[in-house]
Amino acid sequence: MRFRGKVAIVTGAGSGIGRLAAQRFAAEGAQVVAADIDEARAKETAAMIVGEGGRAAPSRTDVTKSADVKAMIDLGIERFGQVDILYNHAGITRQASVCDLSEEDWDLVLATNLKSVFLGCKHVLPHMVARGQGVIVNTGGTFGFYARPEYPAYCAAKAGVHNLTKQIALDYSRHGIRINAVCPGFIDTPINASIPPEAIARIVATQPLGRPGKAEEVVAAALFLASDEASFITGTTLLVDGGQLSGRHGC
Ligand SMILES: NC(=O)c1ccc[n+]([C@@H]2O[C@H](COP(=O)([O-])OP(=O)(O)OC[C@H]3O[C@@H](n4cnc5c(N)ncnc54)[C@H](O)[C@@H]3O)[C@@H](O)[C@H]2O)c1
Repeated sequence: MRFRGKVAIVTGAGSGIGRLAAQRFAAEGAQVVAADIDEARAKETAAMIVGEGGRAAPSRTDVTKSADVKAMIDLGIERFGQVDILYNHAGITRQASVCDLSEEDWDLVLATNLKSVFLGCKHVLPHMVARGQGVIVNTGGTFGFYARPEYPAYCAAKAGVHNLTKQIALDYSRHGIRINAVCPGFIDTPINASIPPEAIARIVATQPLGRPGKAEEVVAAALFLASDEASFITGTTLLVDGGQLSGRHGC
């Protein structure tokens, strides 16, 4: 029960890694705000948690909108009394090379993956600073460490998340706040549902562990970073990538 008495907010909690993280925080004692742009799915996650004996509130939140993000933080404080943990997890991809990517999609990918982290931190940090404690976990990605064809906005956004995490750690660690990122590799979640199995097999074949990761493997890392077990860790990005960034297998 690492999170008994804690309040955790998870964005992107309507699906995949975010949903499982919300459930696991609750299973380990946290009261949870399950936030997602898809209100029905946010409600579903909260209902699942309550059905499992936990406490949760859904929040219809578009993480690209400052007012929505502020309302999400306020909901955590009003409903549960405080916010101890913010897991900035929501994200999207768009595949197209620079010439083919619309400006709208560039803006949307940057806002959903990167500005969302800025907004989440901007609205939760005053509360955490006032309490002299708090933990933030952001979601990066291996595309932020190396470039992949046809993902310009996503690669730029995830690289931004990694360095923004360090930057905020510099400014706020002295206030008792830790901030880190989890960097998933290729994980079997709905975000990759449109990729054919043969393509997935090709993607993972050259990676050291040779298989897609599971949502629970990412969630385990996020919960570790959010827990007191990581009390001397701030400003880092933890790879959960099956060894992908170590190099290519068989080449
Ligand atoms: N699955 C992978 O292979 C992988 C790899 C690296 C990083 N990631 C990161 O993990 C996150 C996605 O998690 P997942 O793989 O479980 O995907 P997912 O598609 O199952 O879940 C993403 C959730 O984010 C929500 N969302 C999208 N836009 C939003 C917005 N503007 N405001 C609030 N919520 C919004 C969606 O509704 C969805 O519920 C992203 O940050 C992604 O970059 C995933």
